[in-house]
Amino acid sequence: MNQFYSKHSNSLNGVVEVPGDKSISQRILILGSLAIGTTKIKGISYSEDANNLIKNLKLLGVKIIKQKTSAIVRGVGIGGLSPTTKKLYMGNSGTATRLMLGALCNQDFEVKFVGDKSLSNRNMYELIKPLRQMGVKINCKNNKLPITIKGFNETIPIIYDQKIPSAQIKSAILIASLNSPGLTTIIENTPTRNHTEILLRKIGAKIQIKRFKKKKIIKITGQKELKAKNISIAGDPSAASIIGSAVLITPESEIKIMKVNINKTRTTFFNILKKMNAKINISNKKRISNEQVGDITFKSSNLKGVHLGKETVANMIDEIPIFSVLAAFAKGNSSFSGGNELRNKESDRIKSLYEGLTTCKIKVKKKNDGLQITGNKKVNITRDVKIKTYCDHRIAMAFLVMGLASKKKIIIDNVNCIKTSFPNFVTIMKDIGANFSKKN
Ligand code: S3P
Repeated sequence: MNQFYSKHSNSLNGVVEVPGDKSISQRILILGSLAIGTTKIKGISYSEDANNLIKNLKLLGVKIIKQKTSAIVRGVGIGGLSPTTKKLYMGNSGTATRLMLGALCNQDFEVKFVGDKSLSNRNMYELIKPLRQMGVKINCKNNKLPITIKGFNETIPIIYDQKIPSAQIKSAILIASLNSPGLTTIIENTPTRNHTEILLRKIGAKIQIKRFKKKKIIKITGQKELKAKNISIAGDPSAASIIGSAVLITPESEIKIMKVNINKTRTTFFNILKKMNAKINISNKKRISNEQVGDITFKSSNLKGVHLGKETVANMIDEIPIFSVLAAFAKGNSSFSGGNELRNKESDRIKSLYEGLTTCKIKVKKKNDGLQITGNKKVNITRDVKIKTYCDHRIAMAFLVMGLASKKKIIIDNVNCIKTSFPNFVTIMKDIGANFSKKN
């Protein structure tokens, strides 16, 4: 019903902007709700995930006014959310679910979280465990949604030594600690995206960050009032990665993507692209709302294969689907390993990628925690193929990009899931010349 396809495109050209970063949009909606005063958010992404989050914050008594690409949030203070008898429908968003579970730790009432099929399949154990240590009551089956949570006024401060890298879990614990009477410590053995820390510091949380060799040690003291501050959000680097990758594999193409967030914790994929011989250049660098921003130019390139280890994978977890597609076009072999967490994303990404690439007749070997992909500049798909997306927006976008270099159609089974992160993806791609179409 929602089938959609892409096909060989001659060249992609233009100057575009991508939606505001999804991670920052979700964080500031929640943190703005917990601050005292009014937060004006410029450049917010109204993805389906953000829209669901706004509905839920409204159910919990926060006033939020939506404007075209901005939002106004009237904060209620830490612990100031109101009870609701309605279930919080989190749609597809693991980030919003985890961060909101953190926020509700500081509330002395019961709330039930539910989600779509893909979210309801995701294991929340790694978060449930520390939140229970903080004294919060959590009820669920098999550590999956539906989850009922009942917090209380003062969560217990903990020391959390994070074994599996996850910005969502780190952020949820930081938010849960906002009303703890004392010091919560998080040891990040593999540092992940740091937008929560940046925002918390900006709005007045007492947060201290130290580096120790490769580790990051974050200390936060609770019961410090948060003061609303206006925030401008730059473009989502994960969205920019998809459009940029389409350009790299399409001949005679050049695209400039304006005002993209280039925070170092988000640019690992761009660094890997350089190693793959990609023509990519970042210019006009500046700082906006304590985040690094720049314009990125991508040009058609002859890519070569590259091998990624655990730490690299952790820092480009959202870009592994598009990386795998690029690897299919690169000279030689590529691989990634240490990506167990990929199995607990919007879909089991190792499985979805393996199936999709195999369907496209790409030589690919599956390992427990990764894939090995044999590249071929002239990917040759001899008949139309149909890809199962498993409701995973990043799988859907990655395979639509693959189709741009294919004589035959690459059909995805569900285009709707793309709205969860990048609602105007199809429009932008068509505007720059992509051969995209709805399948009747
Ligand atoms: C996100 C963190 C990552 C990423 C997700 C967004 C965030 O998940 O995959 O799309 O906003 O914190 P994990 O933290 O679980 O690795």
